[in-house]
Amino acid sequence: MYYDSQARLQGGGEGGLPWNPFKALVAPRPIGWVTTLMADGRVNLAPYSYFQAVADMPDIVMFSASPSPDGGDLRKDTESNVVECGEFVCNIVPNALADAMNNTSASLPRNVSEPEVAGIDMTASTRVAPPRVAAAPAALECVLVETRRVRHRGGEHRYTMVFGEVVGIYIDDRYINEGRVDTAAMNILTRMGYDEYAVLERSFRMSRPDLDPMKSGFLKG
Ligand SMILES: Cc1cc2nc3c(=O)[nH]c(=O)nc-3n(C[C@H](O)[C@H](O)[C@H](O)COP(=O)(O)O)c2cc1C
Repeated sequence: MYYDSQARLQGGGEGGLPWNPFKALVAPRPIGWVTTLMADGRVNLAPYSYFQAVADMPDIVMFSASPSPDGGDLRKDTESNVVECGEFVCNIVPNALADAMNNTSASLPRNVSEPEVAGIDMTASTRVAPPRVAAAPAALECVLVETRRVRHRGGEHRYTMVFGEVVGIYIDDRYINEGRVDTAAMNILTRMGYDEYAVLERSFRMSRPDLDPMKSGFLKG
């Protein structure tokens, strides 16, 4: 079949499938479970799966936020808080915290703290003010670099990309093995399309034909 991506946009029907297949195919996407601070110092926590590493040395991550469901010009709390406070933490979500993560995606009034409502234990970060999820196997401490509105061919998209520089990374010592992070052992939860998730449980190793990344030293930076 051929899915017509333009059909829905232009009011010309479903395009060939009842649901847009886009997110089922750009999958799995990692989930940044993002901690920010409100102006009064209370903690906000929400999952973002338009989330990626986009550069290293210095390491840069990006998440992309749609407008607040409250309407008008309002942006989601995470985006507003980052712009106001300049820092955020991307917690890595293990499968064991799937329900907790999902609970923090509920739309709550702006002054309500998701971790407080969902009973999620937080603990202090090292270099940034927003705390990390205590039970997360790892967390990226980030300082805002820029926000940029996503564009489409016709102009401004409704999504905003938030770029942060990673200034430090917490890793639970249980997942460090001979100097390497054992990613598969973390059972990281990932997002697919529709209401589907996948768990990262198995990895294998492969070198590039002209470059052994473990010997070349370019991973040291
Ligand atoms: C797994 C998952 C991934 C999500 N990814 C995004 C995303 O990439 N961008 C977005 O705007 N909302 C995303 N959401 C929805 C937000 O988490 C939700 O709107 C939340 O209430 C935002 O909270 P905030 O206003 O405290 O930032 C996602 C929800 C879930 C469950």
